[in-house]
Amino acid sequence: MDFYSTTKETAGIELGVYMCGIIAILSSKPVTGRLVEGLSRLEYRGYDSAGVATVHENTIFRKRAEGKLQSLKNLLQEEPISGKLGIGHTRWATHGSATKRNAHPHKTDRVAVVHNGIIENYQLLKNELVNSGVQFQSDTDTEVVVHLIDQALQSGKTPEIAVTETLKKLEGAFALAIIFKENSNLLIGARKGSPLVLGIGENELFLGSDAWALAPWTQKICYLEEGDIVIMKHDIAFDYVILNEDGQPVTRSVRQLEQEVNVASKGGYSHFMLKEIFEQPKTLANTISSLIDEKNLKSLINLPIDFSNERLTLRLVACGTSYYASLTAKYWFEKYARILCEVDLASEFRYRDPVLGRNDICIFISQSGETSDTLAALNLAKSRGCETLAIVNVPESSMIRAADHHILTLAGPEIGVASTKAFSAQLAVLCLLALDIASKRKTIDDATMKEFLHELLEVPNLVAKVLQDVSVFDQLGLRLSCSRDVLFIGRGTNYPIALEGALKLKELTYIHAEAYAAGELKHGPIALVDKLTPLIAIAPKDSWFEKTASNIQEVASRGAPIIVLTDDANFNMSSSEFHKILLPTSSPFSACFIYTVAVQCVAYYTALHKGTDVDQPRNLAKSVTVE
Ligand code: M6R
Repeated sequence: MDFYSTTKETAGIELGVYMCGIIAILSSKPVTGRLVEGLSRLEYRGYDSAGVATVHENTIFRKRAEGKLQSLKNLLQEEPISGKLGIGHTRWATHGSATKRNAHPHKTDRVAVVHNGIIENYQLLKNELVNSGVQFQSDTDTEVVVHLIDQALQSGKTPEIAVTETLKKLEGAFALAIIFKENSNLLIGARKGSPLVLGIGENELFLGSDAWALAPWTQKICYLEEGDIVIMKHDIAFDYVILNEDGQPVTRSVRQLEQEVNVASKGGYSHFMLKEIFEQPKTLANTISSLIDEKNLKSLINLPIDFSNERLTLRLVACGTSYYASLTAKYWFEKYARILCEVDLASEFRYRDPVLGRNDICIFISQSGETSDTLAALNLAKSRGCETLAIVNVPESSMIRAADHHILTLAGPEIGVASTKAFSAQLAVLCLLALDIASKRKTIDDATMKEFLHELLEVPNLVAKVLQDVSVFDQLGLRLSCSRDVLFIGRGTNYPIALEGALKLKELTYIHAEAYAAGELKHGPIALVDKLTPLIAIAPKDSWFEKTASNIQEVASRGAPIIVLTDDANFNMSSSEFHKILLPTSSPFSACFIYTVAVQCVAYYTALHKGTDVDQPRNLAKSVTVE
C-alpha cells in the first residue's frame, strides 16, 4: 500500500486525540441543565462539538451537536432530555473531524461514555471487536471503550467488573465517566494520564475535568490519582469508593477549595477578553503587591532555593504566550541577576534530550498549569534531579502539585482563549523574581532595588492610563482589519512583546503576522515589506530607541504603512502612511507592561472590526492538554 492509498478507510479509524472537557453528575435533582452549565465552564478545553447523555427510566438518552456549545443548547431546547444521572463532553479534535458522529458521549444501548485522552492501542482493540461482529458508529478511539464494557455487561459481568476489566486492556491516557442503562444510581469514573476530579455536594456527586467546572455546586474536591477508579452510588445516601491501580480501596484527601463562583460573567463587557484586558490594573496590582512589602520596599519572595551558586543556570520552559513571558524574563535575569538564562519551548525541551546538571534550576511558566508539553518538561527536569519552580495562574493545577516550588500569578480565572491578564501577571512575577535574585546575589544594591520596586508598584497605574482611551486602538483596528499581513518589531524586552503582539493578532484575527527583533529585519524579513504590509513598531524612548527609529525609517522608505507605539511625543515621520499611538512615559521595567496592553488592544479591536470570534478563536483551546 503506498502513501496515497493509505486513507482513513484503509488505515482504520481516525486517531481521536482530544483535549476535551468532561463532566458527570449523580444527583437527586435533574442534571441536564447543569451538565451544560458545567460544559460552558470547560469550553476552554475545546469547542469543536459537545454532547450530553442521561439515564432515565432505564434508557440512555443522548444529544450531541457539532460546533460550539450553543448548538447543543439550541438542540436541547428543542429536544430536552431528563434524568438525575448524566455525563457531558466538550471536544477539541487534533485528528479526526469535528462532526456530530464523532462527538461524545459514545454509547450502545447499555452504556455511555465520555473520554478525555487517547487510547493508543485502539486499533488492535477495534480489530478484535470488529472481528467479533461489533459495528462502530464513529471514527473515534473512545468507541472501543464503550464496546468493551458493553461486551462484558452482555456476558453477565457487573458494571464495576466490566469497567475494571476494560481499563486493564487500555493503553494510553484517559479520564472517563461512564453511565449504565440499567443503573440510574451508578456513575463510574477513571483516570490515567488525564485529569479528573471528584466533587462532593449536598445529596449529589460530580466528576469534572477540573474543579472550576464544578464550582457553582461544590467546593469539596478530591483529585483522583493515576490509575484511580471511583464508583459513585446513590442507594440510601450518596456515597463513593475509590480503588487504586491494584483495585484496592484507598482514601484520597478531600480539599475545601476557595473559588469565586460567578467570575465567568462578562461584567458588562462585550467579550471576556476585553474584560480581562481591562482587569489588568487590578490583577497586576494584586500580583505585584503579593510579592512586595510596599512599606519597606522589599521583596516578599522567599523561595527556599539557593541562587548564590556562581555556576547556576536558569532554564525557563513554557509554550505560546507563556514562552514569550519567559523570553522577556531572560533579559531581566541576565541583566540584573547576572545569571545565565536559557529559554526553551516545552515541546522542544522534552524531546531534545537537554543537558541538565545539578547547577540548573528549571522554571516552568504556565497560565493553566495543565499544558501537556510543559508538564512533561517539568517531569523530565525532576527525573534528572533538577530543582523545579512553577509559575502558574491556576491554583491546584497539575504543575503546582508536581513542582518543588511554586509562585502563583494572581490574575484570577482567565476565560478568553487568548491569554492577556495571565501574561502580564507572569511578567510581573518574573520581573520581581529576577530582582529578588539580583538583590540576594548582590548584583544590584539596596537603593537600586528599592528604586526598581517603586517603578513596579507604578505599573498598574500606567496600565490604567493606556486603557483610559482605547479609541486610538479602535481606529487602528478598523484599518488593520483589511490587512493580509502585518509585521511587528521591537528590541530588548520589547522584542518578545512584539512576538506576543503578532501571536495575539494571528490568534484573534487570522491575519498573518510576524514579529522580528528590529535589528534583524535587514537580514531577510525586509523582503516582505511592501505598501500593503503595515509595520507595527514597539518603540519606547529607551536606550535602543534611536536604533529602532532607524529600522523604522528603513521600512518606511520601502513604502510600508508605519504604526509606531511610543512614548516619544516628538517622534515624527513625513510619510502620509505614518500613524503614531502615544503611550504613557515608561521606565525599563514598566515599558513591557504598557506595550503589552497596547498590542492586546490592537489585536482585540482588529478582531472586532473583522468580525471574528474574539473569545473562542477557530481551532484553539484554552488549555492544551495534548502534545
Ligand atoms: O496555559 P499555558 O500558559 O501553559 O498555555 C500555553 C499556551 O498554550 C498559551 O499561552 C497559548 O499560546 C494562548 N493561546 C496564547 O494566547
